[in-house]
Amino acid sequence: MNEPFYITTPIYYVNDEPHLGHAYTTILADVLAGYARLQGRETFFLTGTDEHGQKVHDAAQRRGISPQEQADEMVLRFEQTWQRLHIRYDDFIRTTEARHVSVVDTVLQKLWDKGEIYLGEYEGWYCVPDERYWTEKDLVDGNCPACGRPVERIAEPNYFFKMSAYQQWLIDYIISHPDFIRPDYRRNEVLGFLRQPLGDLCISRPVSRLNWGIPIPFDHDYITYVWFDALLNYITATGYLNDQDRFSSLWPNALHLIGKDILTTHSVYWPTMLQAAGLSQPKTIFAHGWWISRGTKMSKSLANVVKPLDLANVYGVDAFRYFLMSDMTLGRDADFNEERVAVRYQSDLANDLGNLVHRLTNMIVRYCDGSTPTPSKPSLEDDALKLHFTGLPQSVFELVEALSLNEGLELVMTSVREINRYIEQAAPWSLYKEGNFLRVNTVLYHAAEALRMASLLLQPVMPEQMKEIYRRLGWQPDGAYVDQLAWGQLRPGSAVTVGAPLFPREINLEAR
Ligand code: MSP
Repeated sequence: MNEPFYITTPIYYVNDEPHLGHAYTTILADVLAGYARLQGRETFFLTGTDEHGQKVHDAAQRRGISPQEQADEMVLRFEQTWQRLHIRYDDFIRTTEARHVSVVDTVLQKLWDKGEIYLGEYEGWYCVPDERYWTEKDLVDGNCPACGRPVERIAEPNYFFKMSAYQQWLIDYIISHPDFIRPDYRRNEVLGFLRQPLGDLCISRPVSRLNWGIPIPFDHDYITYVWFDALLNYITATGYLNDQDRFSSLWPNALHLIGKDILTTHSVYWPTMLQAAGLSQPKTIFAHGWWISRGTKMSKSLANVVKPLDLANVYGVDAFRYFLMSDMTLGRDADFNEERVAVRYQSDLANDLGNLVHRLTNMIVRYCDGSTPTPSKPSLEDDALKLHFTGLPQSVFELVEALSLNEGLELVMTSVREINRYIEQAAPWSLYKEGNFLRVNTVLYHAAEALRMASLLLQPVMPEQMKEIYRRLGWQPDGAYVDQLAWGQLRPGSAVTVGAPLFPREINLEAR
């Protein structure tokens, strides 16, 4: 698999600080990028912020500051949060940056020159918080069908993109590219939506109503609709205007991770925009579910928001990442409840993994003078363990590529439990008492090597704690990952140390 791996998160609105939903998508992208790197693939992970539009304008106004100040302040909050959550993005794009503004400008001009944009009369209903126009029949009880809030009646001249012209093309494209929209139930949802006639897309706002946005290059009385501006970030960052080679290698491999609430914008607006501009499509648009709290989507207005850093402070960043990745079946909604975080923490991390690290390093220190033992002739059980771990990376990668991430993690955890069982059965403490030191050495080497491999496969999810495991095992990862993923990397004679529990059983709930 030599194609580059290009993964994106949605770019987040800077009207408010990051919450669990944002943290979830960003950690997920980080983890998938981590697995791609482990497979030796060239990886580009993009995240950023969506800074124009009514929402940001209004948030700034409420605080008596300029939208740019609002954006600058919130960007820091996002960047700090990502740093604290150990996110390793390759690029952070802000839609107010010059490199992005010039892409929006270029694409609009191009579509205008090609006759893909026209001046028309917009009449309809507008939802300010969602920045979405709705037709009469979209409304639910006269309110916005997406958020249920009241809508405003609006009639004004505006620019339109001829989206309707691409309806049949889009249907055909989705049908002939089964991996384009995933999971398949979201794909069917989009195809269902496309059974109704598709309208044209209003892509401007008069400056007199909203002045926070990118000017329409051919009419400065208007700014660009925030979604038309925002979606283009995905091509800006890959060098669309300034690095053709990079663009053509990365762009067709794009995997857009999004929440299910922004499925239409990504799988209807975006593909038709690209098609009209003569550009190719991303590889996959993957919509994940929502984190639900007390039966409803977490949202600030419902005051049921979980602050990601609060939980990371209590359980540790890595444990928090592990929880989010293992507790959601990608695509489906998941109920967030802190008891589940605590249960998983105790069973998977404190018990299965943490305990193994502690016990094993302790035994190596006691029975092998604190250095990695030299294995001798393996038994059937040793060979079985080796065989399992030799095949493990491939099995995990296949699940991750199929975006069955929680199953991939479950497989690694089952393998960790397998190491515990292996140690129980071999009982090195009895072998030691019997004076069978060759067996002690062989068993502890096999267990430690298996633990090293399990840790490497958990590294994308828990980068810091896994590095600590390597350190305790006396292993320095270097060289290509393919080599690191092969059995037999621990060097006999390296210093092994026991440290404080990696995932302490006692949790300080006051740490949030
Ligand atoms: N700015 C747009 C995206 C433009 S992308 C070209 C936007 N921003 S957002 O900040 O409102 O939301 C970003 C993401 O957070 C969405 O994918 C949304 O699904 C996700 N989440 C917000 N709340 C969520 C949960 N409660 N659970 C999981 N993710 C949710 O939309």
